[in-house]
Amino acid sequence: MSDTAVNSQIETDRKTVLSVRDISVVYEVDQPVEAVKHASFDLGAGEVLGLAGESGCGKTTLAYAINRLHKPPARISSGRVVFTDRQDGDIDLLGLGDEDMRAFRWSKLSMVFQGAMNALNPVISIRAQLEDVLTTHRPGLSRADRRRRAGDALERVGVDSTRLNSFPHEFSGGMRQRVMIAMAMILEPQVMIMDEPTTALDVVVQRDILREILRLRDELGFAVIFITHDLPLLLEVSDRIAVMLQGEIVELERADRLYSHAAHPYTRKLLGSFPSLSGSRGAFIRTGIDETEEEH
Ligand SMILES: Nc1ncnc2c1ncn2[C@@H]1O[C@H](COP(=O)(O)OP(=O)(O)O)[C@@H](O)[C@H]1O
Ligand SMILES: [Mg+2]
Repeated sequence: MSDTAVNSQIETDRKTVLSVRDISVVYEVDQPVEAVKHASFDLGAGEVLGLAGESGCGKTTLAYAINRLHKPPARISSGRVVFTDRQDGDIDLLGLGDEDMRAFRWSKLSMVFQGAMNALNPVISIRAQLEDVLTTHRPGLSRADRRRRAGDALERVGVDSTRLNSFPHEFSGGMRQRVMIAMAMILEPQVMIMDEPTTALDVVVQRDILREILRLRDELGFAVIFITHDLPLLLEVSDRIAVMLQGEIVELERADRLYSHAAHPYTRKLLGSFPSLSGSRGAFIRTGIDETEEEH
């Protein structure tokens, strides 16, 4: 975090599950771009950490680096990522061999990619795509167990398991996104990174899915890094919020304090640019009470 960072609550008051320190990512192109600059934060067990900032500020690049899914010309030029596993203790993710990282990914730390709902193969059934993750990561499971777990995963995100044999093209955008979330959750990871998981959806569907994610977080206890350019949305779903500007985390603060205590001018500008933010617009997602329901 730079000298200009304010309210830098990089630590969590929960048990730390993921610790990101001093991560920098450079795109090695003709004019190298430092897309992420010395990012640091901890993620607590069961916590929702929001990552906000306008398009192009480096959110996706940071998420890929944490998961080691970055590809050239992107290169991690500094930093450390430590995952504290419930069973195995501290794991240095940047030091893991590729094979170990592949096994680790999805089962401990999974990701819902930006635009993921368009990444499902349209001509392969939902069942086959969900079972594929299980075949790869849980080769010991019987066919019947795979089938049952694929159905359970779908039910969890609010899609009836009778739809398992459907194809993605038969689903709405919201339902395809639910399938992607089911897929990211199927191995019950301790951390999920969600990159703009609801951005492409209409507001009502978006709210339903967010409520579901929070309910599942309460039920299963995973932690979430929730990425979006939509700061008002983050104020409602997050425990803490990191604000990114041109590759830097410039502010990191508890969500319930950010609205009144934002200290960085950029955060204040972001908050000020959403006129709909007012004291009365409460935590409808957390409570399930939608104060604006009658408008729809
Ligand atoms: N493949 C690439 N080659 C070069 N630069 C890139 C590439 N991808 C992203 N960038 C740079 O990284 C910055 C951050 O991109 P990204 O992480 O996708 O931002 P966000 O997810 O916040 O919209 C971009 O502004 C761009 O300058
Ligand atoms: Mg992005």
